[in-house]
Amino acid sequence: MDALKWWQKTIVYEIYTKSFCDSNGDGIGDLPGITSKLDYLHSLGVGAIWLTPIYESPMVDNGYDIANYCSIAPEYGTMEDMEELIAQAKKRDIRIVMDLVFNHTSDRHAWFKESRSSRENEKRDWYIWEDAKADGSAPTNWRSIFSGSAWTLDERTGQYYLHTFASEQPDLNWENPKVRQALYQAASFWLDKGVGGFRIDAIVYIKKPKAFLDADVDGPDGLGNIHPVLANQPGILDFLREFGQQVFAEKDIFTVAEANGVSANELNQWVGKEGVFDMLFEFSHVDLGSSPSGLWSENKPWQLTDLKKALRDSQLATAKNGWYPIFFENHDQPRGIDHFFPPQADCVLAAKALATIFFTLRGTPFIYEGQELGLHNMKFSSIDQYDDILSKGQYGLALQNGYTPAKALEFIWKFSRDNARVPMTWSDALHNGFSAGQPWISIPPEYTALNAKSQAEQTDSVLAYYQGMAKLRQESEVLLHGRYEELLQEDEKIYAFRRIFDANEILVLVNFSTQEACFELAELAQMKNLYGNYPDVKPGALRSLEARIYCGRCGAHEAGGK
Ligand code: GLC
Ligand code: CA
Repeated sequence: MDALKWWQKTIVYEIYTKSFCDSNGDGIGDLPGITSKLDYLHSLGVGAIWLTPIYESPMVDNGYDIANYCSIAPEYGTMEDMEELIAQAKKRDIRIVMDLVFNHTSDRHAWFKESRSSRENEKRDWYIWEDAKADGSAPTNWRSIFSGSAWTLDERTGQYYLHTFASEQPDLNWENPKVRQALYQAASFWLDKGVGGFRIDAIVYIKKPKAFLDADVDGPDGLGNIHPVLANQPGILDFLREFGQQVFAEKDIFTVAEANGVSANELNQWVGKEGVFDMLFEFSHVDLGSSPSGLWSENKPWQLTDLKKALRDSQLATAKNGWYPIFFENHDQPRGIDHFFPPQADCVLAAKALATIFFTLRGTPFIYEGQELGLHNMKFSSIDQYDDILSKGQYGLALQNGYTPAKALEFIWKFSRDNARVPMTWSDALHNGFSAGQPWISIPPEYTALNAKSQAEQTDSVLAYYQGMAKLRQESEVLLHGRYEELLQEDEKIYAFRRIFDANEILVLVNFSTQEACFELAELAQMKNLYGNYPDVKPGALRSLEARIYCGRCGAHEAGGK
């Protein structure tokens, strides 16, 4: 057995910088705010913090539109604040992980300003410029991820530029070696500052197809989803290998790529011994039911067996080689409680049930801020209250699809990225202790009751459960190393699996339904009940949303299985 690396044994915590903690009362989270909460993160067993982008940016997509890779957004602080955060974190054995957004820049980046200034400019081919079709329309019918055409006409030079996301996020041309070198230098700048890793944004889109051909139209806008035509084009790995070799190979950091759609047979080239990255985010479990068109209004319901299959596939894909992050939430997803459990679910039980799986699957747990408090989705009464650029696009598409404004808003309630972007709930003070001033986005009043301060004082809170589970995971050889095996595979209420290492095993049972669920597992008789979200145990049944963890020696049931 190979020894595990530090990033396989630790817990990562994702911070949405704008919403974590505001130190100066301007309503916007900032770096000194994060530094002030390091002890809190330490108490959760966190060994690395992934910061969503903190660079100078017009903030059209909250920092995922970068205007300068080697700078700090003034609203978040200064370079000194960043150095202080890195140093203070280090004292607590916590490393800072940067979000590298290398598929695109902001349209305010100096490179793009030059590129668009004339067709002859030296940086023209740092981005993707194309002529209109013969009829004057955009080069292809691709729908950008945030909706609308993926091409914007630049009037001055009479050509279109490509943007996989918003028109303010033009795609870089990775074919140009100068672009690649400039990006590698930016990453190295942060390594020199002592960061402990990189989360690499939207990386599957960097390689463009040889020919730009129309996609199948799949929406009321007459456009086709850009994702299938652009993601994971042949040749992408050549770029990624070069990036790895020139920037982070041999460094004691971790890299995690946002790489949806990498198939199991390509996985070894992406992660593991021969792979470029240490981990990659794989989305099949959070994307259950999502429509191939990408339209939220066309998403379909799914069943527990679908979720189990998605988790099983990713657990087994990395069983022999490679490693995955474990995540149920991030800044692009709705809250896990609402996403994975029935609408009438008790939030505290559901949050603990999710935590039970989260800490016991094989991989590195990535907590998203507020997940450890059991924060749930919110419902604004009008689309104007939403900030998320994707929500606005999806709302428009739902209306075009024939839905009423009220129905269109329901899709936003369910899937909006703002669900997870509402500021953290620190205490019952003004604005939940997030800020002394008016927060940049409104906070639903019911969040106050879920605050971290009161949860830290209660032994049965969601926060206390996270702290307990984090400790269990760090201390358990079985949870760190053990292989994964599923039980009760066809059950539509119970998710059950065990982790096995040497002669020891941990068995996890979670009832995803709000009804009682009966089961038969003879081996439980010889096992010890370790942890759970109910104070007592009822043999042979799990109550509404009940989660339980057992441990024991591998018994007779294991004979011959090894
Ligand atoms: C990634 C980010 C998302 C962002 C997009 C464009 O998917 O996670 O928040 O909007 O890339 O950079
Ligand atoms: Ca601030």
